[in-house]
Amino acid sequence: MSKEIFVDGILKGHVAFITGGGTGITGGVARALAEAGASVALVSRKLEHLEPAARAINDARATNQNIGEALAIAADVRNFEEIEEAILATVVRFGKIDIVVNGAAGNFLSPAEALSANGFGTVVDIDLKGTFNVCRAAFAELKEHRGQILNISATLHYVGTPMQLHVSAAKAGVDALTRNLAVEWGRYGIRVNGIAPGPIEDTEGMKRLVPEPVKEKLRKNIPLGRFGRISDIESAALFLCSEAASFINGAVLVVDGGQWLSAAKFV
Ligand code: HXC
Repeated sequence: MSKEIFVDGILKGHVAFITGGGTGITGGVARALAEAGASVALVSRKLEHLEPAARAINDARATNQNIGEALAIAADVRNFEEIEEAILATVVRFGKIDIVVNGAAGNFLSPAEALSANGFGTVVDIDLKGTFNVCRAAFAELKEHRGQILNISATLHYVGTPMQLHVSAAKAGVDALTRNLAVEWGRYGIRVNGIAPGPIEDTEGMKRLVPEPVKEKLRKNIPLGRFGRISDIESAALFLCSEAASFINGAVLVVDGGQWLSAAKFV
């Protein structure tokens, strides 16, 4: 749907490095950036998630050369050396990196009193430290090409969200990285922004984390009266990655239909 809203080829000539780019929200963002002309490196732990996504993009490209090429790279965002290697592999293949999308995330439901130290640490390692690892490893490329970073966080930490202490803490940290890096790296022409998605249907997060009986109550509490769609996040990502957002730096764009603002009614 995004490709019907934006002019063709708005990201032609760009190269995006996208963690979590095989599935879910960030899988949609990766496809949208490719459809807008960017070459995309899809990065996550599991090649079996990445290869079908990369193949779908490359098959579409076979009939439409305006679509960017996709490359699947297995790397764990928790491992700085693996990310450095993935960055190098992307540069070898596509010549540069000027867009980084941090979408890799871990999540499960757990009450705080049952959460182990390792469980808390694992999510912080993936979401927060993983985001730092990728930003840090990509810095030289981003600086050289006056690139940009897009961090995917959440709205969980705007309120107190039960069963999500670990994720809320990690995503709050991600928003802090967005703002701090925007200030520190703006001088290099690097823009750093974020998207905070609300409840998005047809995602692993919604299927696994929102129990069926809660779903309808949640939907009714969204002022726009519907769940978000992956295409809603794709459109926000395309906007932030495009020249239309060239003076936007340090923003976290909430894409939730107004859900978190009315969260008090829900509990
Ligand atoms: C309690 C759990 C747990 C669970 C893992 N842990 N799953 N604790 N309940 N369901 C604990 C383990 O017990 C262990 O601690 C520690 O976390 C590490 O677990 P491992 O399985 O060894 O780690 P790993 O293989 O690295 O996998 C961890 C994980 C995975 C990535 C977090 O469990 C997971 O949830 N994968 C799903 C990824 C996903 O769906 N991503 C999309 C997120 S959507 P101990 O103490 O036992 O050693 C999203 C959107 C947010 O983020 C908005 C939602 C509405």
